[in-house]
Amino acid sequence: MPLLEVIEMSHSFGGLQAVSKYNLSLEPGQITGLIGPNGAGKTTIFNLITGIYKPDEGEVRLQGTDVVGRRSNQIAALGIGRTFQEMRLWRHMTVLEHVKMARYSKLSYGLFGAFLDSPKRRMEEEALTELAMEYMQLFGVDQFADQLVVNLPYGAQRRVEMARALAMEPKVLLLDEPTVGMTPEEMEDMIMVVRKAYERFNLAIFLIEHRLRVVRELCQHVQALVFGEVLVEGTPDEVQNHPKVIEAYIGEQEIDF
Ligand SMILES: Nc1ncnc2c1ncn2[C@@H]1O[C@H](COP(=O)(O)OP(=O)(O)O)[C@@H](O)[C@H]1O
Ligand SMILES: [Mg+2]
Repeated sequence: MPLLEVIEMSHSFGGLQAVSKYNLSLEPGQITGLIGPNGAGKTTIFNLITGIYKPDEGEVRLQGTDVVGRRSNQIAALGIGRTFQEMRLWRHMTVLEHVKMARYSKLSYGLFGAFLDSPKRRMEEEALTELAMEYMQLFGVDQFADQLVVNLPYGAQRRVEMARALAMEPKVLLLDEPTVGMTPEEMEDMIMVVRKAYERFNLAIFLIEHRLRVVRELCQHVQALVFGEVLVEGTPDEVQNHPKVIEAYIGEQEIDF
């Protein structure tokens, strides 16, 4: 049984068929890429998998259980983590607070209990800080622990977003254009971080990416999406050199080989 399986999923916005009969199968320890021109439906697929939208048709199975119809916070708690194309961070919280915040949902006292004081709570709080430090180290943002996210360089902010997503201990991690707007050095850092994350946690990673270099470096399997349908899938080489894919990208400015 695949870790995450999407079966014949479709969705439309009014008259626009954004996703048609889409299928996906993810296994732990694999990075799968999703490429396609702007407006192809890539982010919509993430939003459908994570419960932000409910698919018109089809199934989304996490370890065999259909999660369609559950709320996005429930789906996150079940083990599907994500980051966003336009980064969503609380700009005026510190890096440490971000990563800890992600963990509160996992603790016995919850977010409400965090405001009450007890020896048990204090012990949990200490363990939490330690664990958060570990995640921050892994993503190279521990030196910024007490700084406000708003004051960090862009590349580091994106790594905080990754650390926060992983602190919820997902089984599947969806990354929506994690290198968008990055300098070449920031991009190299991000490639390293993604690789570290999946090696360390044996995750299934599903990556939307505009930069084909990133896809080639990281992904074993790639899908090319055009007008909400998978046009071609296979290894990065097979997909990138496919005439249909090359044709679909004609006129795209942002594509970066
Ligand atoms: N909430 C929405 N309401 C209406 N149309 C939407 C909505 N979200 C996305 N779309 C449309 O669906 C199509 C796919 O969008 P999107 O999934 O964001 O593409 P991509 O991420 O591949 O660039 C686009 O035509 C977009 O305008
Ligand atoms: Mg998008």
